[in-house]
This record gives sequence, structure tokens and C-alpha cells, in this order.
Amino acid sequence: MTQDELKQAVARAAIEYVVDGEIIGVGTGSTANFFIDELGKIKHRIKGAVASSEATAVRLKSHGIQVFDLNDVESMPVYIDGADEIDPKGAMIKGGGAALTREKIVASVADKFICIADGSKLVDVLGKFPLPVEVIPMAHAVVTRKLQALGGQPTLRMKDGNPLVTDNGGYILDVAGLQITAPQELEAKINNIVGVVTVGLFAQRGADVGLLGMADGVKKFVY
Ligand code: 5RP
Repeated sequence: MTQDELKQAVARAAIEYVVDGEIIGVGTGSTANFFIDELGKIKHRIKGAVASSEATAVRLKSHGIQVFDLNDVESMPVYIDGADEIDPKGAMIKGGGAALTREKIVASVADKFICIADGSKLVDVLGKFPLPVEVIPMAHAVVTRKLQALGGQPTLRMKDGNPLVTDNGGYILDVAGLQITAPQELEAKINNIVGVVTVGLFAQRGADVGLLGMADGVKKFVY
């Protein structure tokens, strides 16, 4: 199976977690996009969705799914999203699509985080994928120095020759060279640096269920 076919398979499998009559939290990225396309087929069963990015909101609306403002939603049973890496305990690196802050906020409101990914995202130790960190633009240089002091090699993410600007007006530092053996501790440490909006480590609130696409089918992990 191709990587896209694996993503499509986990997107289909995730439909089982959609709760009828409820609002669902929806992530960002290519795997989340496959999920949105599946969700479109059963849209009559749900009340609507909360989007973790402007791009996801556009795609949800293109399927006729009502998109709610998170401020109008007190709870939701599930949040479904992809990941750049996931470890055997359900801790993840996210933010390859620059939506980490909104993803973490929406996920924090959901009872369950369902991670959907192709099997290549499963790793023993997080950190091969450069860790995204959203920062306030005026702070990118100082935060870079602090992340270097932690042993990382941060690079400012660029787009068309300029720093990439997130949906929140922030910049992204992609931090290479980290072997993340204690993800919860590193998440707290980086979130504590002044000027950081959010780190793309999802360990304190990791996935509850992982649906990972392998050559021999979709494997379910409960964390
Ligand atoms: C976006 C994310 C995505 O979930 C992550 O980058 C995985 O993307 P894809 O499904 O395209 O591999 O965190 O900010």
C-alpha cells in the first residue's frame, strides 16, 4: 500500500470513534484531510466540528459540515488528528503543518484524542522529526538561544523567502538534534520559555488511542 492508502485506511477506521449527534474536534494535515473527506460522507450524523486550523475549517465547510467556534463549545467526546511521530506510550510530535497551538487547544477540550497515522510515524524515541515550537515573532532569536542551550538546533521555518506565519500570527522554530527520552518534562521546560506560544510535544496530554496504518492493516493501540 502507498503512504496515502495507509492514511486513507486509518481515516476510514477513525469513523468508528465519531459520536452521533455530537461536535467533533478535527486536526490538520494530509491524514486529517482524508478523515474530513470520510466525515463528509456521514455528516448528517454529527452536529458539527471544531477545526484546528483555517485550512481544516475550509475543508470541513466544503463538505457542508458546520464549523463551531471553540468558545461556543464546552466539551466534545473526541478529537481526531495525525502526528509527525508517535511513541509506544502515545506521546507525539506534532506541528509539521504549523497548526500545533490550535491542535493542542482543541485537543484539550476533548475527552479522547484519537491519533491516525501511517505506520512510519511510530518511533521508539521521539526527536528524529525536528520538534516544532511556535513563538512570538519578536522572541524568535532569544528562544533560539534558549533551545540551543537545551541541546537542540533550531531553524526558523520559512515560506516563499519569508518566515512562515501561523494562523495565530506566530513563527515556527523547527528544533533538530533532540533525543526526547522524557517528553513530558521537555514539554513543560520548553513551554516555560518566555516567548514560546506552544511546543509541538503532545506528551502531558498524549493520544488515548492510536490507529496506525501498517502493511497488514490498521493496528489499534490503546495508551
Ligand atoms: C499539523 C500536524 C499534523 O498532524 C502532522 O504534521 C501530520 O501531518 P500528515 O498527516 O500530513 O502527515 O501536526 O500541524
